Amino acid sequence: MNNLKVRQITRLVRNFGTTTKNDFKVAVVGACGGIGQPLALLLKRHKLISKLSIYDVVKTPGVYADLSHIDTKVCIEAFQCAENLPAALEKAQVVMLVGGMARKPGMTRDDLFAKNASVVEEVTMIVAEKCPKALFGIVTNPVNSCVPLAAEVLKKKNAFDPKRLFGVTTLDLVRSRTFIGQILGVEPSKVALPVIGGHSGQTILPVLSQCKPTLKLDKEKATKLIKRIQEAGTEVVKAKDQDGGGSATLSMAHSAAVFTDALLKALKGDGKPVKCSFVASDVSDCAYFATPLQLGKNGVEKNLGLPKLSADEEKLYCIAVEQLKKDIQKGIDYFKKQNKDEKKDKKDKKC
Ligand code: LMR
Repeated sequence: MNNLKVRQITRLVRNFGTTTKNDFKVAVVGACGGIGQPLALLLKRHKLISKLSIYDVVKTPGVYADLSHIDTKVCIEAFQCAENLPAALEKAQVVMLVGGMARKPGMTRDDLFAKNASVVEEVTMIVAEKCPKALFGIVTNPVNSCVPLAAEVLKKKNAFDPKRLFGVTTLDLVRSRTFIGQILGVEPSKVALPVIGGHSGQTILPVLSQCKPTLKLDKEKATKLIKRIQEAGTEVVKAKDQDGGGSATLSMAHSAAVFTDALLKALKGDGKPVKCSFVASDVSDCAYFATPLQLGKNGVEKNLGLPKLSADEEKLYCIAVEQLKKDIQKGIDYFKKQNKDEKKDKKDKKC
């Protein structure tokens, strides 16, 4: 099906949509991939969404047809091909970027940067042009470098608002609650703790000392649990290797939906949701760090800062900070290099 037809169908469905002033337009970029499809499904059921704009480079007509048969009030707008990305993002209040390559066994998230950086850069340029006030969540890995890169792009476009750009780290909390729930024999939903830092290996720091209900583990068991949380993404990558490969899609889509839900409630003024997310801040020695955030109509309303850490957690914090500094710099350096190359190209053309 060509682009025109995708757009025609979109218009038709849009006409039947019902909207109220408390409904929002959410755009999912990379909506037809492994994370994008289940995320779009979860959002199609969301009560605060009136329009769900799905964008991808392939498969959009099929995913559109499938989703649009679901009997909820959320209208689907479908867009395919880079030239239609601006239309997909037009007037979006929340943008979730889930596109890009997934890890294969033996790779770190960092290894994805060479492939995914250009996706982040291109999408962020359009966010800056079409919906600079949107709350923008980045799921695309490596989050630790992609968020600083997106910030640089937004700065260049005079559209950077540190309150509105989020690295989605919710899956680290989701996993922490699940594993701790299993240890304590309680429902995961009853477990609460801050998970701070970044989203890869030792930059993920579940603050077990602040866990509610209290978690009493000896040092060896605590170390093992922290390691499992830090390496849980790799656990999935290894397990999926037998089935054609890839990384977490379902648990990631669930986590991205949980985070989107918090953003929507914040936009609506429905309470003041608190979520941990990787954002620009000065609460640590890193320019970006995940801490608990109180969300409001304009994004981050208040950064609740670093939680109290035990002596052992202080050591893990220092390790996380050292690694994060490098990851953050990688995103910034990529942007600088691109810009330099761009300027050089322009100069060469003049000559
Ligand atoms: C995860 O945590 O599962 C995702 O970041 C995907 C990955 O590569 O591990």
